[in-house]
Amino acid sequence: MAPTFADLLDRARALADGGGRAVLGIAGSPGAGKTTLAETLVRELNGPGDPWVAHVPMDGFHLADAELERLGRRDRKGAPDTFDAAGYAALLRRLREEPGEGTVYAPGFERVLEQPIAGAVPVEPTARLVVTEGNYLLLGTGAWALVRPQLDEVWFCELEERERLRRLIARHERFGKTHEEAVAWVMRSDQRNAELVAATRDRADLVVPAATALPS
Ligand SMILES: Nc1ncnc2c1ncn2[C@@H]1O[C@H](COP(=O)(O)OP(=O)(O)OP(=O)(O)O)[C@@H](O)[C@H]1O
Ligand SMILES: [Mg+2]
Repeated sequence: MAPTFADLLDRARALADGGGRAVLGIAGSPGAGKTTLAETLVRELNGPGDPWVAHVPMDGFHLADAELERLGRRDRKGAPDTFDAAGYAALLRRLREEPGEGTVYAPGFERVLEQPIAGAVPVEPTARLVVTEGNYLLLGTGAWALVRPQLDEVWFCELEERERLRRLIARHERFGKTHEEAVAWVMRSDQRNAELVAATRDRADLVVPAATALPS
């Protein structure tokens, strides 16, 4: 049976019961709702008290445009090889191994500039659970294979294809593309990435359908 949001909260809390710091991954295709789910989980788990859950997006490990240009991969931004996967895995390992040793900084991703920003996401020593989310957490190729061993569980965020494309196009438009540009980008680039991600679904510990009602 599909989990309710309350089930997800219980399951996330249980991960952090073991002592030490737990890391929960949320994977899923572009636009499937990973960031929204992660933000809602973090907000609801933290509640009004001192924060004990941190949100670290995989998106912060996008290579910068200048480097993509050098590699000749600017037009495939968002594909697996346009991220610093080994750097992401190393940060996850550091987050697991160094709780209590001072703030660990993760990079963020700026949606208007579409660039990673170093030092944007502080993870305080008090964080007992880190929620990390992105497309390629379950990919077994290249340095992506280093990521899964650093995660206690991975949940797969699933959204029916037509609605996923509709939301993705709408978001590209919100961040400055015309409708035609947004459709062209989604069909040319995002779709190839989405197929790679969809093929990793069966590796997830739990599938979370987008129909799961989230608190507003
Ligand atoms: N439950 C929902 N109902 C309606 N719209 C939603 C819902 N969840 C997310 N969205 C919208 O869908 C779009 C994609 O959501 P979100 O950014 O969370 O997905 P994502 O998987 O993180 O995407 P990306 O892979 O591009 O980072 C956003 O514009 C968001 O506002
Ligand atoms: Mg996102």
